[in-house]
Amino acid sequence: MTSAFRDGLLAGKTAFVAGGTSGINLGIAKRFGELGARVAVVGRNPEKATNAAAQIGKDALGLSADVRDYGAIRGALEHVAGEFGKLDIVVSGAAGNFLAPAIGMSANAFRTVVDIDLNGTFNVFRACHDLLNTPGASLIAITAPQAVNASTLQIHACAAKAGINQAIRVLALEWGPDIRVNGISPGPIAGTEGMSRLAPGAPADGGRQERIALKRWGQIEEVAECAVFLSSPSASYVTGAILDCDGGASLGDATMRAMPARA
Ligand code: HXC
Ligand code: NAP
Repeated sequence: MTSAFRDGLLAGKTAFVAGGTSGINLGIAKRFGELGARVAVVGRNPEKATNAAAQIGKDALGLSADVRDYGAIRGALEHVAGEFGKLDIVVSGAAGNFLAPAIGMSANAFRTVVDIDLNGTFNVFRACHDLLNTPGASLIAITAPQAVNASTLQIHACAAKAGINQAIRVLALEWGPDIRVNGISPGPIAGTEGMSRLAPGAPADGGRQERIALKRWGQIEEVAECAVFLSSPSASYVTGAILDCDGGASLGDATMRAMPARA
């Protein structure tokens, strides 16, 4: 997907990706690195973090911190700012999920997912504020179509992601003009932990998807391209936006009709 004119697009930039040690967020971190940014990734598991950093490149940092712990995430951000200088791009993408009916979910189970996804996003963004290179810094939260569309067995994640959508908008208002705050809402993305939990037993690429306009699951690289756009000068007048990267999955055809075959 690299095109020559974009080589070095993020040269001289620094990026911190919370939850960047696997899956979609690691894909984003790798793409930032390929385009010239210095990148740090953070997750709970230190081995995963070290391994992810090695995949990104020799200048990358892999740190262990839990986004639920404000002091730990602040410490990780300070460490990275100490190594790289102030931060240009911060992605908040750590998440937890499992399928469970509300009636089968303990209060702690609900709280755990809200704590990782929503409180974690507040913690990451609140803790990075004075470490950002301004003007021009770009913050991106990873949300989901379930923030808007109700989904059975997902009361925790639906509630948490809905909160993230509003946090994005509030911070865009409060932190402009020096900091842009946006979201990416991926649809089902192939080869991810998320889809192995939400669609267990599905083929690795999801197979043909009749209810999605583009008829397939997305690729990690396609979400990464959205993060590149939001972090680049091309998005200089974009803030408070939530970019759907879902092949049209969230359009929600209310007719529930199949499209007639083309003439
Ligand atoms: C019901 C469950 C459960 C399940 C855990 N719990 N799994 N309840 N059904 N399948 C309950 C536990 O019993 C416990 O409640 C509480 O949740 C906390 O569990 P812990 O294991 O102590 O939590 P923790 O170690 O912090 O792990 C968090 C986790 C775990 C979310 C439970 O799965 C995790 O670390 N996941 C990270 C990776 C991940 O989920 N990636 C996919 C993201 S995909 P009690 O009451 O027993 O103490 C994604 C897709 C988005 O986000 C699209 C939709 C929005
Ligand atoms: P993933 O591979 O499980 O990635 C989750 C990342 O977050 C890992 O790096 C994980 O590392 C880290 N993490 C989890 N809990 C953490 C905590 N408490 N503190 C710090 N780091 C933590 O998931 P994914 O499927 O790629 O999803 C990535 C993002 O996309 C999530 O925000 C998810 O909600 C969103 N999303 C995914 C899909 C999809 O199709 N997969 C669809 C819509 C939205 P450790 O386990 O080491 O902590």
